[in-house]
Amino acid sequence: GGENEGLNKLFGRVEGALEQGLLPVEVFCDDKVFRAEMDRIFTRNWVFVAHDSEIPTKGDFVQRRIGLDQVIVIRDETGKVNVLLNHCSHRGSEVCHEDQGNAKHFKCPYHGWVYKINGDFAGAPHFNDAYAGSLDAKKWGLRRAPKVESYHGFIFACLDENAVSLKEYLGEATWALDAIFGLHPQGMKVMAPPERFIVKADWKSGAENFCGDAYHVSTAHIAAELSEFIPGIREVSTIARGYDFGNGNSFIGHELTQWGPTFEMWAYPPETRAQFDLSGFDPVQVDMIKNTPPTIGTIFPNFSYLRFPQPATPGGKPVPFTNIRMWQPVSPGVMEMWTWEFEYAFLSDEDRKEAYLAGQFGFGSGGIFEMDDTAVWEGIAKMAASPWSRRAGAMLNYQQKRGGPDPEWKGPGQFHKSIYGEYLQQGFWRRWLREMREGDAAREGSKQ
Ligand code: FES
Ligand code: FE
Repeated sequence: GGENEGLNKLFGRVEGALEQGLLPVEVFCDDKVFRAEMDRIFTRNWVFVAHDSEIPTKGDFVQRRIGLDQVIVIRDETGKVNVLLNHCSHRGSEVCHEDQGNAKHFKCPYHGWVYKINGDFAGAPHFNDAYAGSLDAKKWGLRRAPKVESYHGFIFACLDENAVSLKEYLGEATWALDAIFGLHPQGMKVMAPPERFIVKADWKSGAENFCGDAYHVSTAHIAAELSEFIPGIREVSTIARGYDFGNGNSFIGHELTQWGPTFEMWAYPPETRAQFDLSGFDPVQVDMIKNTPPTIGTIFPNFSYLRFPQPATPGGKPVPFTNIRMWQPVSPGVMEMWTWEFEYAFLSDEDRKEAYLAGQFGFGSGGIFEMDDTAVWEGIAKMAASPWSRRAGAMLNYQQKRGGPDPEWKGPGQFHKSIYGEYLQQGFWRRWLREMREGDAAREGSKQ
């Protein structure tokens, strides 16, 4: 109908604009774009829901979101993780009202239908009187995500049963994810439940920033330099590089060893480095891990990563922390930010705590960096809502293009020796456009 026509027109404009390094501002903070994203992107792509270490034992669950869908992520009796829609099959009430816990079953607070932890229907009050054998229990369990898979303990779910496997979905980005999360056989462990807060900015502003924006650091985060929290932050983009694995999945890397040998491998201390096992990595990966490790990145649509050496207290020695975040869409121009801190499981409690504090100091909800970013992203949503901008057909600028892919790169994807080029952000937007269009075709197809 009219809405789709409007969208298709917009997509045509986006396509033409991207070819010139431009982007129509109304892709942000727009009712019809938002609705289409929820329908076309979040029901078809693999979305991060939890880490294995958050739900280690049977019955452990966390309540999460896939786009706007509330889901229960729970480990069942067999150890398998199920992702269940948190709405009663009877009449739609929410069956789970806790953020996390351990459950033996879920009982709906409305009429009392009961579900097993694998989502199967288990019973209802006055069952024989009320239904006299006429209810087919098999049909009335909680709706279950057709695809749930994990990579390095990070559990993703996909609501499209025809989707490719998670590994295929991640594609060449697994090469970087292995280097980030696979340095020790015991893997990584969550430090605490995720921090959550509302930001009046589009979810895509966070995803786009983390996929390749090192340019903003010397301005948006100058307070870190002026306060002497991280001397050198002003010049940090000059040692930034770009790893582009296609499909909107990309990472910024930092050639940290330019700051000195103690910054090898994200600046993990020598005792920690000695316990990492690099034997399974190829030579290009080993060089990346040691000298130019991925520090920030995005996996489409809304999973991002951050690991950077920062002091846990002003003037302290830099400690790497590992931050995982989701840019959760809430409504047009509003997102909820979810941030987890992780650390390698084998580290001592003391080291883990220091890393946690370093992460909180920089990127907790009151962290010195976090507030800078959220404040500037809010302006984008406001501009997208500005009638003047819309009427004028305002375009945002993605035309920075120094350098380009390194022709000598031996690893997967593309490598950019200079981050002064908005290639990675353009890649994110091209993927977004493809998903919005293909998602529409898939939805139309499934109706026939
Ligand atoms: Fe859940 Fe009726 S809505 S039992
Ligand atoms: Fe930032």
